[in-house]
Amino acid sequence: MIIDLRSDTVTKPSKGMLEAMMSASVGDDVYGEDPTVNALEQKAAEMFGMEEALFCPSGTMTNQIAIRLHTQPQTEVICHKYSHIHLYEAGGIAYNSMASLKLLEGEQGKITAESVAAAISPDDVHACPSVLVSLENTMNKGGGSIYQLAEIQAIKDVCEKNGMKLHLDGARLFNALVETGDDPKAYGAIFDTISICLSKGLGCPVGSLLLGSKEDIKRSKRIRKVLGGGMRQAGFLAAAGIYALDHQVDRLKDDHAHARQIGDILKKAKYVSNVMPIATNIVIASLSGITPEAYLILLKEKGVLGVKFGPNEVRFVTHHDIDSTHISVFEDVIKSI
Ligand SMILES: Cc1ncc(COP(=O)(O)O)c(C=O)c1O
Repeated sequence: MIIDLRSDTVTKPSKGMLEAMMSASVGDDVYGEDPTVNALEQKAAEMFGMEEALFCPSGTMTNQIAIRLHTQPQTEVICHKYSHIHLYEAGGIAYNSMASLKLLEGEQGKITAESVAAAISPDDVHACPSVLVSLENTMNKGGGSIYQLAEIQAIKDVCEKNGMKLHLDGARLFNALVETGDDPKAYGAIFDTISICLSKGLGCPVGSLLLGSKEDIKRSKRIRKVLGGGMRQAGFLAAAGIYALDHQVDRLKDDHAHARQIGDILKKAKYVSNVMPIATNIVIASLSGITPEAYLILLKEKGVLGVKFGPNEVRFVTHHDIDSTHISVFEDVIKSI
């Protein structure tokens, strides 16, 4: 048995999802003629109370489109130094948008209204005007940490006062929503654009959505085109998204319970010196007396997969394809090392 905890992106479509995909009605989405893509976009936009949505192949693409949309060359994006848009999108901000970054510190990968306000670049010929703040919720490298709405609203107030837009990398936003019980529409009311991923906790094989105003989504469509993201009979993929939004959101709570169990197991393990607080489905453990590489090899020999996540850190992510049997085998494996 392989227990693949490297990421929540490793899931395979469930039976119900596959059936929905196989029976999808499709058309050419570049002509706007795929009924299932149109239905998914409308469903997501309505869920968040935003005007429109755009279906894209990946979360990297939806983030990069949003950044291109809100910036100009020689302007600046403010975000946490651990943000996915900075660390894991292949330098896309410079490459696609010719924009700069102001990286902030912050507990568990989160930034605050105060730190944003203090970071805004002055209107000076030497500086790079700050035009966009980008948040990540949940925060991957912060151990799946969650922003509370009040914290986000305070950041939005700073943005409004200073003429900056606010984007959300919500690759795992549904993980946050099932924990806080917040209404997605409250997010739609605050952010200028929101990226949500269907291919993480929601268990789809492919797909992300960018949500925003009618005008922003119209411009985003042209940016998606130049990035090569215009898809044709994408309804087969969109059908998986509709299925996931209808059937696979509430179950994210199970992933969070499994993550807490993994955390408890690791806290007692040899070689583990610390486990970051667990808010959702991501568990980050610090090691001592062994390197992450060596630890992961020991685990792999016994069928457990994780990833290195820092000089002394390893990460385990729970997801749709992990159940309680996997957790007990994980426990046995950890105890045996
Ligand atoms: C927080 C976050 N944002 C964005 C992405 C990018 O998504 P994709 O892999 O679909 O490009 C990921 C991927 O894991 C992520 O963890």
